[in-house]
Amino acid sequence: MNEAALKLARRYAIETNQHEKHKIIAFHKAFHGRTLFSVTAGGTEAYKTNFGPLPAQLAHTTHNNLEALSQIMGKDSCAVILEPIMGEGGIHQMDLEFAQGVRALCDQHQALLIFDEVQTGMGRTGDLFCYQGLGVTPDILTTAKALGNGFPIGAMLTTEKIAQVFQPGVHGTTFGGNPLAAAVAKKVLELVSAPETLAGVRARGEQFVQGLNDLNQKFDLFCEVRGRGLLIGAQLKGPHQQKAKDILLQASQKGLLILQAGPDVLRFAPSLFITETEVEQALNLLQQTFTSYLHEHR
Ligand SMILES: Cc1ncc(COP(=O)(O)O)c(C=O)c1O
Repeated sequence: MNEAALKLARRYAIETNQHEKHKIIAFHKAFHGRTLFSVTAGGTEAYKTNFGPLPAQLAHTTHNNLEALSQIMGKDSCAVILEPIMGEGGIHQMDLEFAQGVRALCDQHQALLIFDEVQTGMGRTGDLFCYQGLGVTPDILTTAKALGNGFPIGAMLTTEKIAQVFQPGVHGTTFGGNPLAAAVAKKVLELVSAPETLAGVRARGEQFVQGLNDLNQKFDLFCEVRGRGLLIGAQLKGPHQQKAKDILLQASQKGLLILQAGPDVLRFAPSLFITETEVEQALNLLQQTFTSYLHEHR
């Protein structure tokens, strides 16, 4: 879907006679997938190594830095692509001021704003899509992962006007428009967009963050616990930096599956339907995990 979004942005520029608009701006540490175009938009060199020559005219700048972004935007800007909360890059939220500033810069330079909501979308942050909580509307939005609740489907959303440049045959894929996948996604959308689901995500997120902060009082592992809804990151500090993998392996031995977002951040992304009791159980298992981790690393 990010491949489609980037192709759409380039085609829109050309079909609307803005031939100078070819530059796509993305962010260091971003992750947008593994096709050649989307991996080039990503901000981690390792994923791009030995696949060159890569698509041209993609530039990277620093996340949450409006000044840096404004300096590389100009008449040649075609689109800006970003994750409303950087997932793989460490669960970094955009400041509200940055989000609004990016939108304003895109409007000023007539560049399209693409939000990659593959991780943040479908209820994960307590809104159906994260942009709704930011008050900033992108021109193109991509979603996948939770869209099919495990069944493979991705989608790219855009406005009627921009969609005109993708007439039938212009872009497609063998399994695109699969009726079974679409039926699954329709049901998932119905369940996830229910107000009680989204309220549950917000409540369980607060419970989880509170619990992590309480554990941190005791174990002193993190310099920050951050995130939105049920996309939560805990940044390891001091001697615990680079230890995310050790901790998640210990957690899995206790029966708790967690993720990492880089070597220094523990990432928690539980089911949107997790109950209050299950969050308590998870926090108990984390307490056991931290106890044994500190025992080994004393
Ligand atoms: C923010 C984001 N965008 C896109 C993707 C899709 O990646 P892929 O093309 O590997 O399915 C992912 C997968 O983790 C992601 O986290």
